[in-house]
Amino acid sequence: MTAAKGIILSGGSGTRLHPMTAATNKQLLPVYNKPMVYYPLTTLMLAGCREILLIVNPGDVEAYRRLLGDGRKWGLEISYGTQPNPGGIAEAFLIGREFIGDSRVGVILGDNLFYGASLPAVAERGAQATDAVIYAYWVADPTAYGVVEFDSSGRPCSIVEKPKHPKSNWAVTGLYFYGADVCDVAAGLERSARGELEITDVNAHYLRAGRLSVERLGRGYAWLDTGTPSNLLRAAQFVETVEDRQGLQIGSPEEIAWRKHYIGDEELEKLIEPIQKSDYGKYLHRLLTQD
Ligand code: DAU
Repeated sequence: MTAAKGIILSGGSGTRLHPMTAATNKQLLPVYNKPMVYYPLTTLMLAGCREILLIVNPGDVEAYRRLLGDGRKWGLEISYGTQPNPGGIAEAFLIGREFIGDSRVGVILGDNLFYGASLPAVAERGAQATDAVIYAYWVADPTAYGVVEFDSSGRPCSIVEKPKHPKSNWAVTGLYFYGADVCDVAAGLERSARGELEITDVNAHYLRAGRLSVERLGRGYAWLDTGTPSNLLRAAQFVETVEDRQGLQIGSPEEIAWRKHYIGDEELEKLIEPIQKSDYGKYLHRLLTQD
């Protein structure tokens, strides 16, 4: 089986973070010591996706290219697509249709930060499955999310976008895996009341067809929101707390590329050279000497 491709949806207007997002795209803002987009990018890498399409606002392509390039430095193939207006997450499948071709595809939202010991295995399973796979996470207030309801035997039975009266506390996270047929499913959708092609409608389609599997991420995971200034700060503090305690980085593309043997020692050394004075560079250097 060919490996799943990955899409990072990294557009949007970030209005809730103004004025931080007046001159830069939300997903380029830092979460502690890395640009926000590094976290979803590395989640896709952990899932095994090496061909990645980054969907960004037309005016932000250059900034993203400066940051990520064509991905070769990390053993990836990164290409770029644009979304002129934030018309919904499911637009990714119209913009990315050619990129997806007949491959399985993982989509992750550029502002979603996942953390947990089993995340690599869980994401890899999603990438290698045949059904649609989504992930649910228990939150105190699910009204701002897609919400999935389970029946008494634990099977998903409904999925609703931002319900006023949620049927459960299980929020749908921003990581999804589908077969290539998702492009046809998205093409057949109608726009919602807020004018978007809703990912929840895609998921509801697979649920009706009996082809949706929902993995519940339990208490040992963190799924963090970066949508408001307070949430962004809390996410940064989470990353800082764990990294400082362990001396290990969360969401480093260089480290994951090296650990997955996408790049070797020599390539990693080359990446370190221009940044050797930074804490990040010193951390990467320690990998080479410790492991
Ligand atoms: O974070 C998970 C939630 O994401 C899910 O529970 C919801 O079912 C799903 O609809 C979505 O919720 P929101 O509608 O609140 O997502 P938001 O508009 O905040 O967009 C999330 C990220 O996706 C944002 O950082 C920018 C990117 N995005 C979003 C849209 C709608 C785009 O790049 N283009 C878009 O058209």
